[in-house]
Amino acid sequence: MEAHEKGFFTEANSVEVVTGRNRNASSERLKAVMEVITRKLHEAVKEIEPTQDEWFDAILFLTRTGQLSTEWRQEFILLSDVLGVSMLVDAINNRKPSGASESTVLGPFHIADAPELPMGANICLDQKGEDMFIHGRILDTEGKPIANAVLDVWQANDEGFYDVQQKGIQPDFNLRGVFRTGADGRYWFRAVKPKFYPIPDDGTVGKLLHALGRHPYRPAHLHYILKADGFETLTTHIFDPDDPYINSDAVFGVKESLLAEFRRIDDPGRAESLEFGGPFWEVEHDFVLARDRK
Ligand code: BEZ
Ligand code: FE
Repeated sequence: MEAHEKGFFTEANSVEVVTGRNRNASSERLKAVMEVITRKLHEAVKEIEPTQDEWFDAILFLTRTGQLSTEWRQEFILLSDVLGVSMLVDAINNRKPSGASESTVLGPFHIADAPELPMGANICLDQKGEDMFIHGRILDTEGKPIANAVLDVWQANDEGFYDVQQKGIQPDFNLRGVFRTGADGRYWFRAVKPKFYPIPDDGTVGKLLHALGRHPYRPAHLHYILKADGFETLTTHIFDPDDPYINSDAVFGVKESLLAEFRRIDDPGRAESLEFGGPFWEVEHDFVLARDRK
């Protein structure tokens, strides 16, 4: 019997010893996952050769990250976000057929019970910010309109805050709404131009970003969840390509196909027909949903 089969530990055989000990795991998936994690983790430790103090600092970092996590704040999700793991898991689970719109992270600010509004409604409830008109179509991969598709949108205001971050300052459900398409698959609504904002950076993840010389900002975006019978649900954003942080999103959520065009419109007639007081921003963006593959 070899040393690792007896369970005797050496620096050289560490992976075999630990993996062998997991052979009676309750599921084959767990066993396989732990084999990969053990192999990669031991490889990293062997390459890094941490001092005892460095390893203890790493443990304190994870401990503090857990202590900061509550029902209202999930510091571990933020950690996964800034490490690029949230986007990687999203990419693996949302491989779309060609022509379908791409997904990106959900983020923590979606709420399930936003009001369903008539098409064209203004989701800005406090009249603050620069007016914006957003419209487009929801299509299938053959370019046909999808009727009865549900578009759930939410965004930060022009100071970079979601309503749920400013209870009592912004009206409830400010800058959120649910819209349903008609037979032509078209959607349109009014809002205000969103602004970049920092992810919560007063905890361990913020300290890590700072130590890495990284900022905590996400470029201005609108969030969407799009649902329609017979189609895969799409969780995505559209981004302002002129945002100063467009090439350095703290959570790596930007994809080229998610860049929309934000056009400044100075046309009093159109402004009046949209009930805007002056120049406004216009964004036209079509979404393409993939057919259910299950
Ligand atoms: C967001 O876009 O709402 C978001 C995404 C990841 C972390 C924090 C915020
Ligand atoms: Fe966001």
